[in-house]
Amino acid sequence: MDANAFIETAIREIRQTAGEDRVVMALSGGVDSSVCAALAEKAIGDRLAPIYIDTGLMRKGETERIVHLFGHLDLQVIDAHDEFFSALQGICDPEQKRKVIGERFIRIFEREAERNGARSYLQGTIYPDRIESQGGIKSHHNVGGMPVAVAFRQIIEPLRDLYKDEVREVAGALDLPPEIQHRMPFPGPGLAVRVVGEVTREKIAVVREANAIVEEELIDQYHPWQCLAALLSLGTGVKGDNRIHGWVVAVRAVASRDGMTANPLDLPYEVLEKLQSRITAEIPTVARVVYDVTPKPPATIEYE
Ligand code: XMP
Repeated sequence: MDANAFIETAIREIRQTAGEDRVVMALSGGVDSSVCAALAEKAIGDRLAPIYIDTGLMRKGETERIVHLFGHLDLQVIDAHDEFFSALQGICDPEQKRKVIGERFIRIFEREAERNGARSYLQGTIYPDRIESQGGIKSHHNVGGMPVAVAFRQIIEPLRDLYKDEVREVAGALDLPPEIQHRMPFPGPGLAVRVVGEVTREKIAVVREANAIVEEELIDQYHPWQCLAALLSLGTGVKGDNRIHGWVVAVRAVASRDGMTANPLDLPYEVLEKLQSRITAEIPTVARVVYDVTPKPPATIEYE
């Protein structure tokens, strides 16, 4: 693929397909939706209405980061914490969780699209998203492939034939900041799939802090394909003079080519110790930290 040729063609296609429409899109800040937004802005300027839905399940500092990166595109930020946490109450099954989050996301998006009077809908579906959804491996929440009940005249998917590494190449050719171009993948359902069992605000707050520590300690030094922290269950621990019931946090850092298979990173013991001591010291409700050495298969990368 020639990235510059792709950009020219995609801009032309978006401009032609959109016609005079106002075009709405969900911007998550990941490389796919960021590339889509940049292409659409070149194609149709301020007729693009990018919407960022803050689900309450995002990583630490994510909303501020996205506002900083895309504020110039007139980004609309929708605070939907309450809606997502109430929808997730009592839901423990991983696939059910994904469905509930995907549904909520779509309903909010539809509402906002109508408010914006948009007639076309742009989304950053890439080739592997289409394949994985067809294969029924897991219900892929990306907005991609989700039925939207708004009467859009059309759906525009400029990246539909690209692989992830090609999208990254296009991001480079578009001069998007390196932090977007090389961003680790992050699942659409967010931190919800890093909490085993029912999702609550408290658990998300814990797993968000733990994820931030893992990313801070590992990304620049060890360049994992993906790294994360997940909340497993409650376990017994002792803090000060008291036996406590505290969270068990699992740390995962993997090398992979495409996420289909993965191998755990062979991290130095001192690094594991540092992760343990920071997580237990900085998050008082964590009693135990474990490092996951399981490859994929048999384990998946995420915990749910
Ligand atoms: P697993 O856990 O299946 O993950 O080994 C493989 C890659 O996919 C990401 N992932 C998701 N991405 N929606 C997404 O958009 C999802 O429901 C989802 N589940 C997993 C995961 O982070 C990893 O990069």
